[in-house]
Amino acid sequence: MTFRHRHLLGIEPLSPDEIATILDLAGTYVDLNRSAEKHAPALAGLTQINMFFENSTRTQASFEIAGQRLGADVMNMAMQASSIKKGETLIDTALTLNAMHPDLLVVRHPQSGAVDLLAQKVNAAVLNAGDGRHEHPTQALLDALTIRRAKGRLHRLTVAICGDIAHSRVARSNIWLLGKMESRIRLVGPPTLIPSGAAEWGVEVEHDMARGLADADVVMMLRLQRERMDGGFIPSEREYYHRYGLDAEKLSCAKPDAIVMHPGPMNRGVEIDGTIADDINRSVIQEQVEMGVAVRMAAMDLLARNLRAAASA
Ligand code: NCD
Repeated sequence: MTFRHRHLLGIEPLSPDEIATILDLAGTYVDLNRSAEKHAPALAGLTQINMFFENSTRTQASFEIAGQRLGADVMNMAMQASSIKKGETLIDTALTLNAMHPDLLVVRHPQSGAVDLLAQKVNAAVLNAGDGRHEHPTQALLDALTIRRAKGRLHRLTVAICGDIAHSRVARSNIWLLGKMESRIRLVGPPTLIPSGAAEWGVEVEHDMARGLADADVVMMLRLQRERMDGGFIPSEREYYHRYGLDAEKLSCAKPDAIVMHPGPMNRGVEIDGTIADDINRSVIQEQVEMGVAVRMAAMDLLARNLRAAASA
């Protein structure tokens, strides 16, 4: 098993072998999660604290279930009501928590880079659960596991990532991961929602859905991240749906067996038609959620092994 990191802050520093290690271990946790007895002792005795400075439903629940199934003591800090609101800095909060000796810290923060900064100040292994528009590594890993199980591989696929690329950490982590696996990546969206430097990321850029989806094996839809927009990026939601919303007609440009993905939360009728999202023959959106728990179990398990190895060294 190769995985030599203290933290999981992004996909960028991971090697293809390390990615495969996480996915292989996650595969065993998929089986565990489908069984009646869902417990394994990988994190027994360890304390996991979830700090979400941004709202989250599935990611926080997923990390919480993952930790509990592996026997950790899991605590959710209600960051909306925390001392940060009273003026405490992120670093002071981190140092306070650090004094309680957590082993795993799962952190989501609205600012890009905040989780890396925090990781430098604490003794725990830190998992980035999404920082600004920078990275969301466990999302890209769960997407990869979903793709690998549906398509049998991760290399030499054509993956269209569609919509609000500019504000999306999911897109950035997926571009890193799929690029390392030698897949062909196409970013599809209006010019206002594709960063100007994107052409240098080793990806193709298309502003037209029919061209962008042509021959795609995977169609990954993204939400319009309105909370990160500070101006008019799209004319109207109706117009956006007309040009970029995934419906049956646009999907017919992709390969006949192309899968449809979405990290959630999904806005039906804005970036995706509800019937496509619910079509069990095309959509793997529920599988993504299932893979999420398994991937987080695997990531925390591997980080805990490294923690224990460092402690006994
Ligand atoms: C994503 C996120 O928070 O970056 N959601 C998630 O983690 N499931 C995408 C989004 O918010 O649109």
